[in-house]
Amino acid sequence: MLNFTHDIPTKIYFGKGSISHLDEALNSFGKNVLLAYGGGSIKRSGLYDTVMEILNNGGYNVVECSGIEPNPRITSVEKGASLCKEHHIDVVLAVGGGSTIDCAKAICCGAYYEGDLWQMAKTHEGHRKALPLVDVLTLSATGSEYDDGAVISNLETKEKLGNTYTFPSVSICDPTYTYSVSQYQTAAGSADIMSHIFEGYFSETMDSDLADGIAETVLKSVMKNLPIALKEPDNYSARANLMADSSIACSGIPEYGKASTGWPCHAMEHELSAYYDITHGVGLAILTPRWMRYIVEKDPACKERFVKFAKNVMGLDGEDEDALIQHSIDDLEQFFKDCGIPSTLTELNITDEYFEEMAKHANRNNRLANAYVPLTVEDIVNIYKNCL
Ligand code: NZQ
Ligand code: ZN
Repeated sequence: MLNFTHDIPTKIYFGKGSISHLDEALNSFGKNVLLAYGGGSIKRSGLYDTVMEILNNGGYNVVECSGIEPNPRITSVEKGASLCKEHHIDVVLAVGGGSTIDCAKAICCGAYYEGDLWQMAKTHEGHRKALPLVDVLTLSATGSEYDDGAVISNLETKEKLGNTYTFPSVSICDPTYTYSVSQYQTAAGSADIMSHIFEGYFSETMDSDLADGIAETVLKSVMKNLPIALKEPDNYSARANLMADSSIACSGIPEYGKASTGWPCHAMEHELSAYYDITHGVGLAILTPRWMRYIVEKDPACKERFVKFAKNVMGLDGEDEDALIQHSIDDLEQFFKDCGIPSTLTELNITDEYFEEMAKHANRNNRLANAYVPLTVEDIVNIYKNCL
């Protein structure tokens, strides 16, 4: 087990009715609030009215930054940051899914940044000073409510770049706000949660029992609760478990004491979203089983880890290691299919046209040379091709 650092300064209010903490969460920062949200789901669900009532009753001055896109664009960050400067904003309130929260994180830093904000997104310049961020989460997926990361896209350069920005000061996580999430986004979000776990679980470190136990529990929780949430969108218990799974999965906690892995599926998926603007979790669900088959073939040393996955997560048993591994990956692929997630890139109208340049970008600075099983550009192209 390796050394690790734990430092998550975010306070989470979890559960039905936790919006009652919104006023106190904002009040300590000031009265000028930038309200950031997406394309209108919060208006349709009634959450916008709830939030506005609290803000009006609390005497806040509210400036709105709406229309934040899924796979949020740098142009939205620019818009939000200039609103913060113009209106002397004290605190940013993000109400939405990972895209809205991510965009808000970059806005919080952009509010203090002088210069080109895409340059900020590409580097670590200006990521230290940030406005405080409070969020109300409406989709269980990214874990953005409990980490300092954000992923911002630039349509002009076809880039989608993850970076660290700022932690939310407070995240309000009420599972009832996810009742209105579509089946497609519910399934995609859950695939994202699972991928955050896979990215850390498939590591060379075999003796970090706490981390592996948490990881396996989160995977089993998602596989139990996602089918329930798809059938009964307002099943509180299922939605609550998925929401708690979301927050912990990307927090680093399931990777305590483990060697870093390069998060290869995320590196490959961000290229798919950058070029084709697809839903992040869908890209991950398509890539993951193919990546698994590819790395087991490439490096048989990782079989021990895959057998652990087959037994502890997928509930399989048997002596034949290869059969166990293949069976577990097939079952995972079938699980995603049964949840209504497309299973090939072809279904998303993606061809091999850009695979080479996407693979080069995914592996920029040779970053996947240190992945759990190191990947070359050629490997990545092969994995993309196996997804067609
Ligand atoms: O924009 P609105 O109208 O709000 O609609 C959204 C959007 O169309 C809708 N939605 C959200 N909550 C809803 C709802 N619809 C009905 N009822 C609700 N309660 O769902 C659609 C997708 O929303 P989005 O925020 O894009 O989804 P998600 O939370 O999956 O976020 C995806 C983004 O986060 C990034 C992804 O790359 C992608 O850009 N990630 C962020 C990470 C992080 N910060 O740590 C890590 C992840 O690996 C990921 O890369
Ligand atoms: Zn993700």
